[in-house]
Amino acid sequence: MRREFRTLYWRNSRLYLIDQKALPHRLRYVALSDYRQVAKAIKDMTVRGAPAIGVAAAYGLALAALKARGSDPLKVLERLQKAADVLRSTRPTAVNLFWAIERVMVRAEAAARDGEDVARAVLEEAHAIAEEDVKVNRAIGMHGAQLIRDGAKVMTYCNAGALATVGYGTALGVIRAAVEQGKRVFVYVPETRPKLQGARLTSFELKLEGIEHRVIPDNTAAYLMSRGEVDLVVVGADRILASSGHVINKIGTLSLAIAANHFNVPFYVAAPISTIDFRRTLSEVRIEERDEREVLEVMGRRIAPKGARAINYSFDVTPPSLVRGIITEKGIFGPTELYKLQPQ
Ligand code: MRU
Repeated sequence: MRREFRTLYWRNSRLYLIDQKALPHRLRYVALSDYRQVAKAIKDMTVRGAPAIGVAAAYGLALAALKARGSDPLKVLERLQKAADVLRSTRPTAVNLFWAIERVMVRAEAAARDGEDVARAVLEEAHAIAEEDVKVNRAIGMHGAQLIRDGAKVMTYCNAGALATVGYGTALGVIRAAVEQGKRVFVYVPETRPKLQGARLTSFELKLEGIEHRVIPDNTAAYLMSRGEVDLVVVGADRILASSGHVINKIGTLSLAIAANHFNVPFYVAAPISTIDFRRTLSEVRIEERDEREVLEVMGRRIAPKGARAINYSFDVTPPSLVRGIITEKGIFGPTELYKLQPQ
């Protein structure tokens, strides 16, 4: 396997996804030929991470458009609308999912209006979103790497790496870029209960890159900070609200941010502009709640007594006062100055 892998790619009218449920023990791709399979893969987290699910959904629409090819353009649009609704219903919190679907639908509608081949237009747009993702992540990495000094000990959270994007990653992209500049970087990887994206996926990526790291139980983070052993925290985001600067990311991010602020450790968020929500306010955002079994079981084995119930919010909300900066492809911004990035 090459060091730089692609989380997903398109070949011969199929979407190939790394099955992230099987990692780190097995690296295998699954081939999908129907948008409903893509919706299922997003829902069951075969593919996960905000940018990656956006791109997967865009290709899901390409699959739907290809199936409808040959019908008149209005029929194709109707089918696409239905597919878009199904794809939107998979995970409610990451804004990239809605952003990518909207971008593809705008292109499809224009193509239908202009008498172009809608399926081709949809596929081209999905490819464009996928290609931009890697470029944008490299730019985020370049801006963020200046925050990391040689010899730094950096903490990340969940997986905001290549696996959460098409390639390179956002928060892990920042770490990668610093390493590419020749800096020595040591990474703390909280395991990230309940789905263990840190222990399974971030550790997998860092190991491939040869970046020194330790997996830590989530509840070890504050203690390490109290001992002065963390220089910087950098995490990803599923949605950042331009209206207020709140950062919505994997459950547990808020606790890390509180601990980092208490111990004067700079807390940064790395995310593409496509993760910034320029429309909604906090009360309009739905925080995903997942199946209780994810908490009551570990890798399919029950750990809590029969009949015990669980709370399983997938994301939490970090207030802007705890965030030192948002690292984007256009530079580093304060959480309350994101309105400057609004696309015209
Ligand atoms: O539930 P997941 O694994 O999809 O959550 C992923 C995260 O919370 C990431 O930090 C976020 O999507 C940013 S990925 C570049």
